[in-house]
Amino acid sequence: MTAISHIETIAVIGSGQMGAGIAQVAAQAGLQVRLYDLAEAAVARAETGMKRSLAKLESKGRLPEGETAASVIARVQFTAVFEDLADADFAVEAIVENEKIKKELFAKLDGLLNPRAILASNTSSIPITRLCAATKRPDRVVGMHFMNPVPVMKLVELIRGLPTSDETFAATTALAERMGKQVCISQDYPGFIVNRVLIPFINEACYAVMEGVATPEDIDKSCKLGLNHPMGPLTLADFIGLDTVLAIMDVLHSGLGDSKYRPCPLLRKYVDAGWLGRKSGQGFYKYD
Ligand code: 3HC
Repeated sequence: MTAISHIETIAVIGSGQMGAGIAQVAAQAGLQVRLYDLAEAAVARAETGMKRSLAKLESKGRLPEGETAASVIARVQFTAVFEDLADADFAVEAIVENEKIKKELFAKLDGLLNPRAILASNTSSIPITRLCAATKRPDRVVGMHFMNPVPVMKLVELIRGLPTSDETFAATTALAERMGKQVCISQDYPGFIVNRVLIPFINEACYAVMEGVATPEDIDKSCKLGLNHPMGPLTLADFIGLDTVLAIMDVLHSGLGDSKYRPCPLLRKYVDAGWLGRKSGQGFYKYD
C-alpha cells in the first residue's frame, strides 16, 4: 500500500513544548491540526501558550497574509480524546523519550488511522527502525526531528528507518517544506546528525565545569563570543533539559559503544538531584 501523498490533516501527539510548537507551525501553514495529550490540563496549557505565541506573531505582522491569530488557532482541535485523531493523514508524536511507551503509541495509532496514513516520530534518539517494527505499516513510518524552539528553528531532520519507503519520505519532505522548514536527511544511527554532533559538545562543556577548567559563565561566553553561537553550551543544555541531554548521551554511549561518549558524572549528578535546567528552575544556572 502506498503512503498518502497529499496531507491536509495532521495529528500531533504530546502537547509539551515540542508538540505544541509543531502543532502551531502546522496550523500556520494552513493544515488542519489535532493536538492530543493524555491529560486535559496539558492540552489546556498548550492552548494558552499557543494563543499567546500567535498573538505576538500577529502584533509583529508575521502571520501569513489574510491570517489572524484567531483564524490560525481555529484550525487546531485541542483534545484529550485519542479517537479524535482518527481522520488524520499524518501523525507526528512528541511524547516522552521512552521506547516502550512510543512503541505502544505507534501500535495504537496503527490501529486507529487510515492504513495509508504516515506515522512520524519527533524522537531525538530512539531508532526509527524499531518504531517501524512496532506497526503493520513499517514502510509508512519515518523520523521527523524538529529543533527547539520549533517556531523559530528552520531545520527538520528526516530519518529513514530501514523499511521506510520513498513515497513516505517524499510526502514527509513536502510536509516539512510546507511548514516552512528545510530538511536534512539522516540514516538511522544513534543521535542522527544534530545530536550526534551537539550532545558530545555539551557533554565536553560539562567535563570542563567538573574539572574546574572555567566557570559555566566563561565557558558559555567563550562559545558565544568565540564561536558566534547564539547560546553557550551550558545555557543550551539547561534550555533542552539536562535529563534529555543525559538520555541522548546514554544512547550515543550504548549505541556506538565508544568510551568517548561516556556521560559526564557531573551531568548525571545534576539530573539525580532533580536539577533539570530551565524547566525545574535549576541547572547550570538558576531560573525564576
Ligand atoms: N517560540 C516562538 N518564538 C520564539 C521563541 C519561542 N519559544 N523563543 C524565541 N522566539 C523568538 C523571539 O520572539 C524573537 O523574535 P523577534 O526577533 O521577532 O523579536 C526571536 O525568536 C529571538 O528571540 P530573543 O530575542 O528572545 O532571544 P535570542 O535572540 O537569544 O534567540 C533563540 C532565542 C532563538 C532560542 C536563540 O538563542 C537560539 O537560536 N538558541 C539556540 C537554540 C538551539 O540550538 N536549538 C536547538 C537545540 S537542539 C534540539 O532541539 C534537538 C533536541 O533533540 C535536543
